[in-house]
Amino acid sequence: MPQTTSLLDNAEIATALRAAASLMRRSYHAVALVGAGLSAESGIPTYRGTGGIWTKFGEPTIDGWDFFQDDPAGWWRYAIEHKVGGSDFTDAIDRAAPNAGHYALADLEHMGRLAHVITQNIDNLHQVAGSRLVTEIHGNRFKVRCMECGARDRLETIDLERLPPHCPECGGVYKNDTVMFGEPIPKDALDECYRQALQADLFLTVGTSAVVYPAADFPVLAKRRGAPLIEINPEETGLTDIADVVIRAPAGIALPALVDLLLVP
Ligand code: APR
Repeated sequence: MPQTTSLLDNAEIATALRAAASLMRRSYHAVALVGAGLSAESGIPTYRGTGGIWTKFGEPTIDGWDFFQDDPAGWWRYAIEHKVGGSDFTDAIDRAAPNAGHYALADLEHMGRLAHVITQNIDNLHQVAGSRLVTEIHGNRFKVRCMECGARDRLETIDLERLPPHCPECGGVYKNDTVMFGEPIPKDALDECYRQALQADLFLTVGTSAVVYPAADFPVLAKRRGAPLIEINPEETGLTDIADVVIRAPAGIALPALVDLLLVP
């Protein structure tokens, strides 16, 4: 790909990649916080930054969580109609396939170079690409979650004749797994993210503007504990100033280049 070679010929990027690879070789527990930028190269628009849907159209209303709590059956009826109608964003997710960045993260996991991925993305592309050590802090668009016991199941297996659907384990109400604005992050996911940030001896941020909490806390928490921080993003973010290594390139180019460097003994 012409873009790949020209970017990797860029001395600054090549130096940053070598520095990142050197840190990863010495790490025993590298953790990555991933954002929408990783899936941008799969055709899923980002929220913020150049070309982001919210950059273009402004932020959406954030009353979904209140709506669901007031009227779960009504929320499900709306969600089903909305899914039928689709939207650019949800249709892009349904059409998307993993890109070279997703596969490179899976390779790094299989090579023992990446201990965990904390993803803010709900598109399931890490799993499709082969990553297994993943925590989806904002949920997964293709799953439902019980509001009582937290059990998750695949949306496609749920009977939507009677709304709202109920958990077969405990009878609790099922909600889609995607975390809505105002909704608490599921405790199991949040606990795992903090556990990973506290164990990390190296932290990477990949394709995230790092402006949404608690996700944006984790790189800072790891950095405060002495873990070096690597940023992979074509644009500056609020974490750039504290990053030890900044790879100013798209994830779909930077991550495979990192894998190639780490394959060389
Ligand atoms: N490779 C790497 N980074 C990229 C690429 C790319 N090819 N393209 C864009 N980016 C960067 C942008 O520069 C930006 O910094 O990805 C980042 C995307 O930022 P956001 O759109 O804010 O996405 P994210 O950080 O994941 O948002 C966090 O906010 O809207 C909520 O719940 C939503 O999970 C989301 C959370």
